[in-house]
Amino acid sequence: MIGRLNHVAIAVKDVDSAARVYRDTLGASVSDPLPQPEHGVTVVFVELPNTKIELLQPLGKGSPISAFLERSPDGGIHHVCYEVDDIRAARDRLVQDGARVLGGGEPKIGAHGKPVIFLHPKDFFGTLVELEQA
Ligand code: CO
Repeated sequence: MIGRLNHVAIAVKDVDSAARVYRDTLGASVSDPLPQPEHGVTVVFVELPNTKIELLQPLGKGSPISAFLERSPDGGIHHVCYEVDDIRAARDRLVQDGARVLGGGEPKIGAHGKPVIFLHPKDFFGTLVELEQA
């Protein structure tokens, strides 16, 4: 059911310094910071030949990554995102198998303008999983 790895998201306190490390130390191609107030994050996209890394910094009050950074002040891998051909069919199959979809289960428009859902980390080995319509 799952297809390509779309991105790995890394929560950071300071997205500018994280972007510098990815650009200058790791030699990657990085975007300018993109504020996404509707998602409570500022994002830098790191383009790799086979996938993307998303560096996420909290934006505004109640950011969905604030609690994560309180637990992991150095930052860390926040979620992985896999592509699926049909997000609703994927959701229905997962719910039928007992997986928990966060936020009520209806796909929402994610950071790339495509429908996404998030799956409970306890059902997937301690990893928050995002599924994105391919
Ligand atoms: Co994501």
